[in-house]
Amino acid sequence: MKVTVVGAGNVGATCADVLAQREIANEIVLLDIKEGFAEGKALDIWETSPINLYDSRTIGSTNDYSKTANSDVVVITSGLPRKPGMSRDDLIATNAGIVKMVTENVVKHSPNAKIICVSNPLDVMTYCTYLNAKIDRSKVFGMAGVLDTARYRAFLATELNVSPKDIQAVLMGGHGDTMVPLPRYTTVGGIPVTELIAEDKLNEIIERTKFGGGEIVKLLGTSAWYAPGAAAAQMVEAVIRDQKRVFPVCALLDGEYGMKNIFLGVPVVLGKDGIERIIELDLNDDEKALLAESAEAVKNVMNVLDNMNVNA
Ligand code: NAI
Ligand code: 2OP
Repeated sequence: MKVTVVGAGNVGATCADVLAQREIANEIVLLDIKEGFAEGKALDIWETSPINLYDSRTIGSTNDYSKTANSDVVVITSGLPRKPGMSRDDLIATNAGIVKMVTENVVKHSPNAKIICVSNPLDVMTYCTYLNAKIDRSKVFGMAGVLDTARYRAFLATELNVSPKDIQAVLMGGHGDTMVPLPRYTTVGGIPVTELIAEDKLNEIIERTKFGGGEIVKLLGTSAWYAPGAAAAQMVEAVIRDQKRVFPVCALLDGEYGMKNIFLGVPVVLGKDGIERIIELDLNDDEKALLAESAEAVKNVMNVLDNMNVNA
């Protein structure tokens, strides 16, 4: 199996490293536009193989997409972070230009690949990937919910002093502060979380989760990469190994949850065909209202992209 990771920066290189160490693919191509950068990262990763005892090969490429040909899965992490003086709309325009060019090249060389977008702003960049890939919605999706849920689960594990392995949770909506963690669908070893934690403490954890990305930016001066890279690799694994994992994934809705033409985080079954099923939860009125609010925020940013005509 072959996986390409576009963007050999913090998230892309971490994702490639996890894919190699866990032998999720036997061939991993890391591609970047910066001369020699992907080759350097790929070589460094490959040089860990005798230490970590694996034989997945990682190779690098400076913008040569022929090396990515016939990939089974492609992860897109290329893009710029917001710089001083840059508005959110500037960032959308810049990253949409990058994601458009990358997607066109990816699809040309790997027409059957499943494509996982990681670049920010996540929901709208996943939409941009879909517009340019021109392939079925089941094959183009975004990584955010796996990361956001991991943050929520990690915070709960710390608070309850239990293993994060035993915490299961669902989180929906956009990748931003309107995301919707769902306490009603959060369990600890099968026990509803509400039986183990006071309501105000749980609300604090939910708020911390919503701003989990910003918390890391404040500490590091740049955005996170270990958890995002691992989260993207876990989604790749679900597809490559046809695991039928149930994850929150940014997906194009076509009537599910009463919405159409919007990319939003929802629980799905992920397997060899990409999104094999969208799971529709029976949300209560409060949860529906939060999801609608998040959908509106995402739709506004999708409209910004539509009005830019970047994809024309
Ligand atoms: P980074 O700056 O370390 O890496 C980005 C890489 O993309 C750079 O090496 C750059 O040279 C490359 N690049 C730029 N234009 C390119 C092009 N046309 N073709 C190929 N490569 C190109 O950034 P980092 O930290 O790796 O983040 C990557 C993206 O992922 C950002 O947009 C970030 O906001 C996003 N992100 C998303 C998360 C999520 O939950 N969806 C979580 C964390 C980051
Ligand atoms: C994160 O949530 C910035 O999207 C990035 O860490």
